[in-house]
Amino acid sequence: MSAIKCRMLRAINLSILILRALMSNASSIRKHIDYYSRFSPSPLSMKQFLDFGSGENACEKTSFTFLRQELPVRLANIMKEINLLPDNLLKTPSVRLVQSWYMQSLQDIIEFREKDADDEKVTYDFTDAVIKIRNRHNDVIPTMAQGVVEYKETYGTDPVVSQNVQYFLDRFYMSRISIRMLLNQHTLLFGGKVRVNPAHPKQIGSIDPHCRVTEVVRDAYENARNLCDRYYMNSPELVLEEFNVKDHGKPVTVVYVPSHLYHMVFELFKNAMRATMELYGDAMDHPPVHAQVALGTEDLTVKVSDRGGGVPLRKIERLFTYTYSTAPPPSMDGQRSPLAGYGYGLPISRLYARYFQGDLKLYSLEGYGTDAVIYIRALSTESIERLPVYNKSAWKHYQTMQEADDWCVPSKEPKDMTTFRSF
Ligand SMILES: Nc1ncnc2c1ncn2[C@@H]1O[C@H](COP(=O)(O)OP(=O)(O)O)[C@@H](O)[C@H]1O
Ligand SMILES: [Mg+2]
Repeated sequence: MSAIKCRMLRAINLSILILRALMSNASSIRKHIDYYSRFSPSPLSMKQFLDFGSGENACEKTSFTFLRQELPVRLANIMKEINLLPDNLLKTPSVRLVQSWYMQSLQDIIEFREKDADDEKVTYDFTDAVIKIRNRHNDVIPTMAQGVVEYKETYGTDPVVSQNVQYFLDRFYMSRISIRMLLNQHTLLFGGKVRVNPAHPKQIGSIDPHCRVTEVVRDAYENARNLCDRYYMNSPELVLEEFNVKDHGKPVTVVYVPSHLYHMVFELFKNAMRATMELYGDAMDHPPVHAQVALGTEDLTVKVSDRGGGVPLRKIERLFTYTYSTAPPPSMDGQRSPLAGYGYGLPISRLYARYFQGDLKLYSLEGYGTDAVIYIRALSTESIERLPVYNKSAWKHYQTMQEADDWCVPSKEPKDMTTFRSF
């Protein structure tokens, strides 16, 4: 049995124990979920994250008082939505495991509800709890994905369920990105003795106020190229251009989370390289991958273009569905990261882009190649968290039945033309 499966089974057994313990406490947790889910999450702007974390303003006590309210709100909002998933999906061991993590973490934070914010021991313990929560939730994405796979294998799927699961996963993973952002800022700023991250002294927590975009792009390219070389014994070159419309001739910089930008560009490079290598096979010569970085007054745009043969328009939206991949499933030995195969590259990257009000789009010329474009807000005041909220409209999404299309569906069989002739 693979190491990952072993770890997963151990975790599931443990979770059943935790779940039993939590069940005895279930009605009190349910009350907390109901209470906190009535609040809407409070989205923060990049500027607020910066102001909050820099210089004189950085205050552990303020962060503590904000998080002990905001974290339960974000957790409870998404926990309400987990409950709207189909029963049989909720019953899978993997989804139960994820639920148990959320319940435990909610409880861990609620413990601090009435504690004295001026007591240093309290804020110290809180930071400790935040680190524990972050580690507990490390494997949420693969575990939830496993639940969906188990469900689909056992019960099959229909268009309504698929649509609901896609809707849910987009919101669930977005909520997770946002919760991790809060946890990371707190631990990076207050978790150590010094507030400066020795690896990135200019960063405010995970944010770089002067993130050099081309440096991140080059770094992501090099790492994707290493993977590509391992699989194909070769890799496309990079042609990188930058255009700074705001500050001519100066390198493009933006206030952003470099790890998010890296994640997106790395995924796009892996896809572009795979498409190129698959199309050109063993040819010694293959077209390079182009990357363009442009900074305008509103947008910072990063475009990754390949000549890997493209994708027909009909399939483009499908590429953003979770678990859709045309690559063989990666081996589960956990030894090396695969070039492709989980099908999570595009949908999760699009969430990172949307998290701060940007987007990620794919434009393809079938038969030629693909342009993948990341849009990021150039102004830090416009980069505001995009967060799901549990309310009536969200609830309604899960209740929709399959309805008839309000556009004519072209039938494959030609209509009997005699009826028309008689007019
Ligand atoms: N640049 C591209 N050119 C052609 N096909 C692509 C490109 N990018 C993505 N795809 C298609 O989209 C699918 C999903 O991509 P992704 O979400 O990154 O998952 P994965 O790479 O693990 O398959 C790929 O399997 C591939 O079929
Ligand atoms: Mg990919």
